[in-house]
Amino acid sequence: MKDLPAQPRDLDGNPVTPRAPMAMLAEVTHRCPLACPYCSNPVELTRAGGELSPADWARVFREAADLGVLQVHISGGEPGARRDLAEIVAGARDAGLYVNLITSGIGITRARLEELDSAGVEHVQLSLQGIRPDMADRISGHPGSWDKKMAFADWVTEIGFPLTINAVVHRQNMERLPEMIDLAERLGARRIEVATVQFHGWADLNRAALMPTREQAAFARQVVNDARLRLRGRMVIDYVPADHHAIYPKACMGGWGSTGLNVTPDGTVLPCHAAQSIKGMAFETVRERSLAEIWSLSDSFNAFRGTAWMPEPCQTCERKTVDFGGCRCQAMALAGDARATDPVCSKSPLHEQVVARAEADAASPTEALIYRRMTKGG
Ligand code: SF4
Ligand code: FES
Repeated sequence: MKDLPAQPRDLDGNPVTPRAPMAMLAEVTHRCPLACPYCSNPVELTRAGGELSPADWARVFREAADLGVLQVHISGGEPGARRDLAEIVAGARDAGLYVNLITSGIGITRARLEELDSAGVEHVQLSLQGIRPDMADRISGHPGSWDKKMAFADWVTEIGFPLTINAVVHRQNMERLPEMIDLAERLGARRIEVATVQFHGWADLNRAALMPTREQAAFARQVVNDARLRLRGRMVIDYVPADHHAIYPKACMGGWGSTGLNVTPDGTVLPCHAAQSIKGMAFETVRERSLAEIWSLSDSFNAFRGTAWMPEPCQTCERKTVDFGGCRCQAMALAGDARATDPVCSKSPLHEQVVARAEADAASPTEALIYRRMTKGG
C-alpha cells in the first residue's frame, strides 16, 4: 500500500489526528481446542514458540493504559490454552485496565476460573456454537463441548462474573436464533452478541456452507428487533447483521484506527483482527516499537484514517462519516483492493456481482465444513 499518504487527511486537505483508542484486543494465543469453521484468526496461525511472554504483555498493557485504553479483551484462540493466563491477566489489572475474558469455556476448570477472578478478570464472554449438544459439537469440531460450556456458564454466574454470550450465526443455525437468545437469558447473561459470520480468514473457506439466505437475514433482523423490545432492561443485544444482504455496509471497527487495536500472539499490532488479509500492508510489532508510536505514526493505522483516501462514490456520499466506506478487509476479499468502497454497499459498482455470489453461496446444498487447524488442510 505504498501510494497511500503517511499523514491522514480529510477531503479538504486538513490533517487528521487520531484520538486515543478505548479498547484493545489481546490475542494471547492462537492455540485452541475448538476448530470453528468461521474462526476470525488468520489462516496462517502463530505457534506457541512465537507467543509474547507475560512480562511482554505486562509492558504492552502499561503502554496501552498510558495511551488511553480503558478495557482489554483477552482472547485467542482460546486464552485458557496458556498456562500462564492468570499472570497475563494480573499484568492487565496492574496496568489499571478493565479485563474482559473472551473464552470458549473449554479447558478452564472451576478452580482456574477462581484463580482468574483473583488475578483480575472482571467480565466473562462465553462463545456458544449451538443451542443443543449435537449442533454445538459439530460446529466447534469438539465432541463434548456443549456439556463443558454449560458447566462453565454455571461457574461464571456462581463466582459472580457478569456474563456475555457470544453467538455466531450462519445458514446452519440462524433459524435457532430465538432459542439462542432464550438460552442466554436462562444462563443469566446480561448481554448477548449476535454476530453473523464475517467472511474473512477461515470463514471465507466456508462461504458455501455458511452463507445465510436473504430470508434468513431478514428473519434474524426481526428476531433481534423483537427480542430487544421484550428484554429491555434485562439483557442487551448487540447485533452484527448479514451485510451481504444489506443496503449499506457496517462501520467496521467504528472506523479504521479510531477506537481500538488488536495485538496478536507474537506482538504484531493490527487495526482490526483481519487486517493481515490485506495484501501489501506491513504491520509493526510491540517487540520493536511502542504501542503509542504504532497507533499514531504507523502507515498501517494511518492508511484509512480521515476521508481523503476514500474513492468515489464514498467521497460524495452522505454516509462517509457514518460507515467510513465499510470494511477494508471485506473490500480486500471481494474487490481485491482494500481501498475500494466495500462491495456490499448498494452504491458500489461491484454490488450486483457480490450479491449474486452471496445468493449462489446461500443456495449451495453443501453443509460440509472446513475446520480451523494450526495449518491449512493439516
Ligand atoms: Fe458507505 Fe461508501 Fe456506500 Fe456511502 S458509498 S454508504 S460511504 S460504503
Ligand atoms: Fe478489517 Fe473490517 S475486518 S476493517
